[in-house]
Amino acid sequence: MKVALTLFLCVAFVSGVHAKPVKADSRVETLLAKMTLEEKIGQMTQVDYSAIQNNADDLIKYSIGSILWGGSSEISDIHATGWAAVYDSLQRLSEKTRLKVPMIFGIDAVHGNNNVSGAVVFPHNIGLGATRNAKLVGDVARVTALEIKGTGIQWTFAPCVAVARNERWGRTYESFGEDPTLVAKLGEAYVKSVQGVKLSYKTSVLASVKHFMADGGTTNGIDQGNTECDEATLRKIHMPGYVAAIKAGALNIMVSYNSWNGVKMHGNKYLMTDVLKNELGFRGFLVSDWAAIDQLDKDYKTTIEKSINAGLDMVMIPNGPGAKNNYAEFITFLAELVKEQKVPMSRIDDAVRRILLVKFEMDLFKNMYTDKKLTAEVGSKAHRLVAREAVRQSLVLLKNDAKTLPLSKKAPSIHVAGRGADNIGMQCGGWTIAWQGAMGNVTEGGTTILQAIRNTVSKNTKVTYSADGSGAASGDIAIVVVGEEPYAEMKGDREDLSLSKDDAAVVDALKAKGIPVVVVLLSGRPMILGSTLEASTAFIAAWLPGTEGQGVADVLFGDAKITGKLPHSWPRTMQQIPVNIGDKTYDPLFPYGFGLTYTK
Ligand code: BGC
Ligand code: BGC
Repeated sequence: MKVALTLFLCVAFVSGVHAKPVKADSRVETLLAKMTLEEKIGQMTQVDYSAIQNNADDLIKYSIGSILWGGSSEISDIHATGWAAVYDSLQRLSEKTRLKVPMIFGIDAVHGNNNVSGAVVFPHNIGLGATRNAKLVGDVARVTALEIKGTGIQWTFAPCVAVARNERWGRTYESFGEDPTLVAKLGEAYVKSVQGVKLSYKTSVLASVKHFMADGGTTNGIDQGNTECDEATLRKIHMPGYVAAIKAGALNIMVSYNSWNGVKMHGNKYLMTDVLKNELGFRGFLVSDWAAIDQLDKDYKTTIEKSINAGLDMVMIPNGPGAKNNYAEFITFLAELVKEQKVPMSRIDDAVRRILLVKFEMDLFKNMYTDKKLTAEVGSKAHRLVAREAVRQSLVLLKNDAKTLPLSKKAPSIHVAGRGADNIGMQCGGWTIAWQGAMGNVTEGGTTILQAIRNTVSKNTKVTYSADGSGAASGDIAIVVVGEEPYAEMKGDREDLSLSKDDAAVVDALKAKGIPVVVVLLSGRPMILGSTLEASTAFIAAWLPGTEGQGVADVLFGDAKITGKLPHSWPRTMQQIPVNIGDKTYDPLFPYGFGLTYTK
């Protein structure tokens, strides 16, 4: 062993490894020594489920190292039992490969295990940012880990430690907030808790900290855009989340689509290798984003050469046979690049060492199949209670005239209005069952805000509902739930964040009745409120709370205090964006950290 190690270090030295070698692990070295070049490249290959669905034998043929479910890759039965069955059957194929290296499976469980029907959907990160509560975020991550493991999967593409600096960006809600300190604190809590005390425990899930780096800082908030700033600013604003996550034991980081000063992250050797691996001592592996290397050059082989040499360890390849830039092509090209000495063997070995190290630390070789006890717990009452508590603490009170809130449970009549009031899909937002999310009954289980209000009030309280506010009577109290319809990356970028005309009209119509109007805003970011804030008697920013609408009613009726604080400065107008805490001139509608309480 010692000889092999010394030999490795010499070879590594002579051929000039890009990253400092990770500390040798004898299990890794023994396995690595048995691998052919093709088997090594297989470990570096992550295929999308939709690409291998009908070519599952390719998993064996190419000794594929990893499978992901992208936002739009579907299986036929999306209940936890259905996922577990598909997971187990795919994982079984790894036992048919020569070296029987288990595959690692990744999924976007970004607010609970949100692709699974019946799983608990938690508030998106922006709401968790409003809680300011690292312990609670840890609880959320723990339950999420259990619900992921219930499907066999052991790797989540979360937490997102983006520091969203421009609300035009459609991924603002995936960020904990605009302040790097808050992001680092909650990101660290998330990593620690989702990965558990030890990564080898049956209930632990590997975190993927994403997207490295500065995805939230692009000019005009354009998704996959260009972040323009000097290195000191980059380190100060966008890097603390990674420093904290690595300290917390993060062993996987996803590289970002965006550029920094015109250079795409996936080709940035300085940031991936020199800073992340060498300076920060990151000993895990880097995975690319979805087909992201394809953006480095017109020629696919060149993109592979550039990204692997820059320090990328595993490549997320969404396409199967016949498609442009598919996994078979990737494997062939990378093997050629090694033979042509354009990618050094030491770089391949470094990548595979990192991937295998993580697989060993996860004890994947022993814990390969789904623990069905966990499957049965997906969406359980106990899990939902944790989400409900997260919802309670995520709400931010922006206005409360005449101490309208909390409402009395004995109020004689309440009229609930707005298209978000009875709409689980709108409560959940993007990355819920479907990639972009959807309006309506997207998942099973959970409580809409309307149902939650009905659950909460006294027997004698009359609750009526209309989407457009018609039917409210004088003497009613109105609760209006409006906001943004679901969206996710790419499709959520906006030039105008004003409330829709229809939403504003509902509030105005109710105000015209001379009754108190409590507005609950469902949105992935601060919106431009115009006259609606004035028209409302009380106003709550509820972000994207997820399936547990009961948490909203708990706060409306005083079963819970309202404690949330703004994770973003709230802009007055679109022209004012970007407006962030620490700006030289700073005059937002509501400052960062704002949030009224019922007592003050
Ligand atoms: C997103 C990532 C996500 C990946 C896999 C990408 O388009 O940027 O956040 O993890 O797809 O679905
Ligand atoms: C993936 C996204 C990707 C999109 C493109 C989804 O399945 O998860 O990451 O950007 O498809 O269509």
